[in-house]
Amino acid sequence: MKTQFVCSSCGANSPKWIGKCPSCESWNTYHEEQRIKNPPSGQTWNIGDKDVVPAKPILISEVQSLQLDRMLTGDSEFDRVTGGGIVPGSILLIGGHPGIGKSTLLLQVAMTWNGKTLYVSGEESSQQIKMRADRIGGIQDRCYLLAETNLERIFLEVQKLQPSLLIIDSIQTVHSSQLESAPGTVTQVRDSTTMLQRLAKESQIPVIVIGHITKDGSIAGPKVLEHIVDAVLQFEGDRHHVYRLLRTVKNRFGSTDELGIYEMNQGGLNAVKNPSKLWLSQSDGIKSGNAVGATLEGQRPILIETQALVSSAVYGTPQRSTTGFDMRRLHMLLAVLEKRCGLFYGQSDVFLNIAGGLKVTDPAIDLAVLCALISSLEDSDVPRTACFAGEVGLSGEIRSVNRLEQRILEAERLGFDKIFVSKYHAKNMDFEPERIQIKHVGSINELYDDVFGA
Ligand code: TYD
Ligand code: MG
Repeated sequence: MKTQFVCSSCGANSPKWIGKCPSCESWNTYHEEQRIKNPPSGQTWNIGDKDVVPAKPILISEVQSLQLDRMLTGDSEFDRVTGGGIVPGSILLIGGHPGIGKSTLLLQVAMTWNGKTLYVSGEESSQQIKMRADRIGGIQDRCYLLAETNLERIFLEVQKLQPSLLIIDSIQTVHSSQLESAPGTVTQVRDSTTMLQRLAKESQIPVIVIGHITKDGSIAGPKVLEHIVDAVLQFEGDRHHVYRLLRTVKNRFGSTDELGIYEMNQGGLNAVKNPSKLWLSQSDGIKSGNAVGATLEGQRPILIETQALVSSAVYGTPQRSTTGFDMRRLHMLLAVLEKRCGLFYGQSDVFLNIAGGLKVTDPAIDLAVLCALISSLEDSDVPRTACFAGEVGLSGEIRSVNRLEQRILEAERLGFDKIFVSKYHAKNMDFEPERIQIKHVGSINELYDDVFGA
């Protein structure tokens, strides 16, 4: 039996073990696998047999544009993230940490799908899936379950049943008997995905595949997996919080800017129609240290509460700690406050928290963080009806942010009566909201005077 060594991160191979992969430069990713002489061919199934016509070069102007008739899943958030429904014949990969709710999400999709679906699980028995379906509710008789891991037998069932959607619960558990290596190995994962992709293309049945992810958050198995599939979605969230986010990492048929928001509760996942509600104050009565930022997640404006606590450092070196916000960015904002406003944090512990467990990378949150920091230091409140959207530069200037109009409208919708934005927006802003007052500020000193009064 011949063996070879395969890189688990990019799929490159070598006849002997090497420590550093020469193609993707990652360390310690080579694993031994059995070599197969003939890679699997597509002869094990024949769905929608088509004669292969050799391709010829065609003028681009003569290629007929494809009219994508997308299939709606019946789940508004899922449809939004896929760019308006699933394209027939496409293959989607969904990654996420264990226990985050991937199986729940796809079972829901299987049950709301308008047509026959086949849900193949290699991880749970049909009874276990039924129990979950009972919790979710809405069981209907178009959804078939199959507890199977052998790819050839799965294809056989697909051929018999002719579903209009195929779901594979975890690509790491399926294996093809044409390959000798064990399930979950690089070769198996890669070649199984290729076979599923071929099935999708030839039969026009869309396939959704669940993939486990490794500790560092990438989908387990070779990186090439992400090249094979048409779309990669990431399901994420914090186990200790109820919300879950579905993001697009790659999408051949739509934008990667979309974001789906769900709430996990007793009856499964519910679409969140009004996301800002999730992250806005449960803190009536609490005074200093809170400020609300108008941020964007994907294309959706969300208002988020930032909280800071500044207290005198008891033990020698002051501590800085953040949740949901970049620590280096906090250091930078503190330095700017000290240098440009003369506010001194050198002897205080600073804790910063983005309420609700969300991780915010949108620079527009800077202004809210800054106000929370000042508010806590000076022990004076930020008005509860004001919110902020702006990036802070090193010289203390307040920079403009993208899609400001959307942020302003969201703040207005939620009943805020003032929003602080960069004055550099003033030049090219041509819309006038009705109820909310827009305050243009140019530097953090102006902001300080305006919010906390000189
Ligand atoms: P699951 O879909 O099994 O996660 P994954 O397939 O990503 O590993 O979901 C697991 C968690 O979801 C489980 O810990 C319980 C929780 N859950 C609920 O809170 N409510 C529900 O209605 C369901 C079905 C699951
Ligand atoms: Mg699962």
